[in-house]
Amino acid sequence: MLHLGSLAYSWATLSLCYLPSSLGAATLPFLKLKGPPTLPPDASPSLNPSLASFSIETAFFEEFLGNKSFPNQLSLNLLQNLKDRTGVPAEIRIGGITADSTGWDPTQDVALFNFIDSSGTLHNTTLGPAFWQSVGLLPEGTKITLTLNLESLSYEGALSMAKAAVNGLALGQLSAFELGNEPDQYPISFTPQTYVDTWEPWAHNISLALGLRKPTFRVAATAIDPLWPYNTPGASSQLDCVSALAAGANKDHVVGSCSEHTYQYSVCDPERTAVAILPNLVNHTRLAEYLDLWQPRIISVRQQLGEDSFNIGEYNSVSCSGKDGVSNTFGQALWLLDTILYASSINVTKLYMHQGGPLALQSSTQLNHGGLSFYDMWYPVQSQNGPIQVMPSYASYLFIAETLGQSKTLRISNIFPGRQANGSSITTALGDSSAGQLVAYGFWDSAQPSSHSFPTKLALLNMQIFNQTNANPRPTTKFDISAFRRASSRTITLKRLQAPGADVTAGNLTTWAGQSFASGLAVGKMAEEKQTSSIVVVQASEAVLVFL
Ligand SMILES: *[C@@H]1O[C@H](CO)[C@@H](O)[C@H](O)[C@H]1NC(C)=O
Ligand SMILES: *[C@@H]1O[C@H](CO)[C@@H](O)[C@H](O)[C@H]1NC(C)=O
Ligand SMILES: *[C@@H]1O[C@H](CO)[C@@H](O)[C@H](O)[C@H]1NC(C)=O
Ligand SMILES: *[C@@H]1O[C@H](CO)[C@@H](O)[C@H](O)[C@H]1NC(C)=O
Ligand SMILES: *[C@@H]1O[C@H](CO)[C@@H](O)[C@H](O)[C@H]1NC(C)=O
Ligand SMILES: *[C@@H]1O[C@H](CO)[C@@H](O)[C@H](O)[C@H]1NC(C)=O
Ligand SMILES: *[C@@H]1O[C@H](CO)[C@@H](O)[C@H](O)[C@H]1NC(C)=O
Ligand SMILES: *[C@@H]1O[C@H](CO)[C@@H](O)[C@H](O)[C@H]1NC(C)=O
Repeated sequence: MLHLGSLAYSWATLSLCYLPSSLGAATLPFLKLKGPPTLPPDASPSLNPSLASFSIETAFFEEFLGNKSFPNQLSLNLLQNLKDRTGVPAEIRIGGITADSTGWDPTQDVALFNFIDSSGTLHNTTLGPAFWQSVGLLPEGTKITLTLNLESLSYEGALSMAKAAVNGLALGQLSAFELGNEPDQYPISFTPQTYVDTWEPWAHNISLALGLRKPTFRVAATAIDPLWPYNTPGASSQLDCVSALAAGANKDHVVGSCSEHTYQYSVCDPERTAVAILPNLVNHTRLAEYLDLWQPRIISVRQQLGEDSFNIGEYNSVSCSGKDGVSNTFGQALWLLDTILYASSINVTKLYMHQGGPLALQSSTQLNHGGLSFYDMWYPVQSQNGPIQVMPSYASYLFIAETLGQSKTLRISNIFPGRQANGSSITTALGDSSAGQLVAYGFWDSAQPSSHSFPTKLALLNMQIFNQTNANPRPTTKFDISAFRRASSRTITLKRLQAPGADVTAGNLTTWAGQSFASGLAVGKMAEEKQTSSIVVVQASEAVLVFL
């Protein structure tokens, strides 16, 4: 249960002076963050060092990683940059819709074979022994979650893949098995009970057959958003982590964690395509209201499976492979940063950002066909959708990685706009006068002597859209952080996430602390600003990490 009521509204006060803006939206030029600076009662437990992880569509794994003879150096460099900052690699979930048409062939020469017919439709995928050598290219210590094929309803098939993985992966590399991708979307219409009737004996038998000593299965991997409000007819019979656990998924103690998928927007049909626009994406109110739908499930799952158990095991901004001009922009980078920080502030353990390409027949009305997805963080190979490149959103994972740093004891809380009594974000309608444009998070490090008195870092986000085509001057907001500082004489350090505008799609115009990572490696001189002033100026469409 949450008991945050009395604190919720007192954490931030707003300047009530608004300037008319040439951009149409109201600008909030000054925001004084209000204390106390002490560890908030709603703070998360220690953040997982692999908080910002990846899901790679099974059929596209070779496009991303290459193989032993032809490793994809761009992907490897980008993943290594993240590990260098936290000491722990991002986790990789190998899964997605194609996992449910993937099989194992111990005699296959190539690492991964996609059966694609003359119309370009992918029918199925087969992995062979060389696949594990591709996985072996990942930075040392990378943990793997592998989705086994449930939809084909071949227990022997799922067992053979699980066995091959246990034998083929490095010792200790397997983090979890999933059994089925998005089973709530299968044509056979699983109920929570019929899902568990199949899922549970398989998970139990595979665990026994392979001698898995600790609970290794990740339950659910479901796709459909929680119905709202929670007493809507049908809400409690949705297939999800909570209903699967209630139906007995963990009766033999095989469930180590759970996963649900989030895609806030979609281009699977024209109605939703119309809503998948940049101004909707780059809005804290909207993304927090969306993630808040999961709060009751997160609370329930953590009570049943432990603190570190609720994962967003596959996510991105726009389902059916993203939208050009939206999910490949710097606006996506701001959305991604706020999504990870907000999700972790409501106790999601890890988020696995999905990478892959459009598949035929995801829906009969989908926008995208062929190539790589417009929401991918980088293009490891050339495709019809563009050359090899790194998208602006990669820089957000660097921001997260440096926020975590080498600490394993960092706790997060959303200090602006803060929480309502029931734990949900304060929305525009309920008093966030920045209309979802300004966001602030604090980080408290339990390993520091001052752990309960002051945060060690702040993340300040200004989501107001400024496009590279907009006329200057670029609007700014001054955040007053004095309430969170130990001493006003101490020097603070700032690192910025920047681009010429939210509409920028070029990785080479996007910088983290002054450096571009468009080639996979840092280019340019690292820019750290030092100041003693408590006023931190953040431009429209910019985010700043403050080291206190
Ligand atoms: C997150 O979990 C911690 C510890 O388990 C708890 O104290 C806190 O209230 C939770 N926060 C939210 C927003 O649910
Ligand atoms: C490795 O990749 C190359 C280039 O795509 C391909 O020709 C080769 O068959 C692959 N090798 C294996 C073992 O999959
Ligand atoms: C893959 O699909 C093709 C075409 O439908 C089929 O002939 C083949 O048997 C399938 N392979 C596997 C391993 O299921
Ligand atoms: C699981 O194992 C039990 C005991 O070996 C067996 O009776 C049962 O048929 C197996 N279930 C499946 C789905 O293979
Ligand atoms: C919290 O209450 C607000 C209304 O005050 C509602 O909009 C929101 O959905 C609630 N959140 C949860 C998780 O119940
Ligand atoms: C952000 O979204 C909320 C909820 O839809 C809306 O009320 C608010 O006006 C939006 N903010 C901007 C700047 O458009
Ligand atoms: C910025 O550009 C996007 C399209 O890329 C557009 O939807 C949005 O309205 C523009 N915003 C401003 C403030 O110009
Ligand atoms: C950035 O990359 C684009 C191609 O994606 C190229 O046309 C442009 O010259 C590059 N700009 C810089 C500053 O390197």
